[in-house]
Amino acid sequence: MTQASDYENLLRVCRSRKSCRSFSARPVARECLDKIVELAATSPYASGSKAWELEVITDREKITALAGAVRRRCTELGNNADPDFRKEFLEYSRSFTAFETAPAVLIPAFKDRRTISLALPGRGLESFERDNSVKSISCVSMLALLAAESLGLAACYMTGPLLAAGEIAKIAGLRQGREPGALIPIGYKG
Ligand SMILES: Cc1cc2nc3c(=O)[nH]c(=O)nc-3n(C[C@H](O)[C@H](O)[C@H](O)COP(=O)(O)O)c2cc1C
Repeated sequence: MTQASDYENLLRVCRSRKSCRSFSARPVARECLDKIVELAATSPYASGSKAWELEVITDREKITALAGAVRRRCTELGNNADPDFRKEFLEYSRSFTAFETAPAVLIPAFKDRRTISLALPGRGLESFERDNSVKSISCVSMLALLAAESLGLAACYMTGPLLAAGEIAKIAGLRQGREPGALIPIGYKG
């Protein structure tokens, strides 16, 4: 019997990963969540500076509160939208709260770190630096998705909920200056 190469194993994990938007109530073992965090921590990061955390939320009340905040924000945006777009937006934005049924939600949180733009002011480098932080946290998120898949867990990468980023940061209790980069529900397919 030939042993599958690292590449083949990784390809299998990548190919089997699919976004999940409906979860069973079965809880995820803490050990699995710790393993996801451990693997995501190997991510590359701009400037080699690990100005990020992966918050793990398993408190049902907090998850419900997160979904409530996203729903309120989407309703507010939808109600203020052009009537032609309102129905379409409200329907589409339903996928922004699909994390609600998951037993665990990961929040990769980043710091919008400013160094070059402070040293070289007035050159419009702020968005370059912010983009670097956002790209970095996206690498972390991708690894978390693959880690979940490798453990037989379902997940979904969600940035739609970030329409309520400020409220998410408050409810999740993110550290001062941290912003949510995505919401990643983790669990078993429902
Ligand atoms: C930047 C980004 C944001 C996303 N945001 C959401 C989201 O808010 N809600 C959602 O249900 N899926 C979201 N997705 C998941 C995509 O819809 C999904 O990856 C895509 O349809 C491909 O399906 P697959 O992941 O099953 O291969 C997002 C994906 C990306 C890359």
